[in-house]
Amino acid sequence: MYRTLNRLDLQKIVAHCKGDYHIELLEETDSTNRLLRQAAESGAPEGSVLFALHQTAGKGRMGRNFFSPAGSGLYFSILLRPQAMADGMKITAAAGVAVAQAVQEVLGIDLSVKWVNDLYLGNKKVCGILAESAMDGKGGFDYCILGIGLNVFEPPHWEEDLDQIAGALLPEKRENVMEPLAAAILDRFFDWYPKLSDPRLMEEYRNRSFLQGKKVTAVRGDTRTVGVVQGISDEGELLLRTESGELLAICSGEVRLEDYR
Ligand code: BTN
Repeated sequence: MYRTLNRLDLQKIVAHCKGDYHIELLEETDSTNRLLRQAAESGAPEGSVLFALHQTAGKGRMGRNFFSPAGSGLYFSILLRPQAMADGMKITAAAGVAVAQAVQEVLGIDLSVKWVNDLYLGNKKVCGILAESAMDGKGGFDYCILGIGLNVFEPPHWEEDLDQIAGALLPEKRENVMEPLAAAILDRFFDWYPKLSDPRLMEEYRNRSFLQGKKVTAVRGDTRTVGVVQGISDEGELLLRTESGELLAICSGEVRLEDYR
């Protein structure tokens, strides 16, 4: 199960982790979210983590593809079995905060958050987070698969015109970046996970959000709502003042800004 690979060394990730997680690493898969979902259906425990060096069909939000070239990024999924439905939005907020804190700690780079869970370096997206949940039939969660894709090194080439909107943390490959970063993200996330109601979580999230006061288009299914961002609620909803003066609390979908997707 524990294999050492050329550009992402599982033993080193484990050695850097403060916590004790059940981590697996594959050279290639279509999507770590899809594969871990299968494991969840077969009863895998909370805290199972699956990394892939390369994904052939990385899944993004809104049915998009997540470009996952080998050796350029960290692509992994975490299996959670949350206790409360209210934890849903907070889990993705905790993941965003964990990645931003880990990147600051390991590389000294400040990322900002675009609601709901894209992380930006300047005006380029460098990280996407996809949480996929299954219900237990009794109004609670059966499991939640939290997928994180972080572009660490600039890839040799980007797919299509992705370089217009996507970027990476570092322009060139370096040793000893991927593993400490992966471990720091896991440690930060599992520090926050039992403390999802701690007000400091949303404080950390808001401090990194760059949407405050901006005019955006909120997209939910076929509905488009234009408004000015007033803030982010304690539950993680985006508070939007619409053109008709109504204050909306948006809990799903995404927002679009000029120059950002
Ligand atoms: C987004 O930006 O829309 C979310 C992207 C999430 C990508 C990660 S990479 C690891 C995990 N496996 C997937 O198939 N997707 C997520």
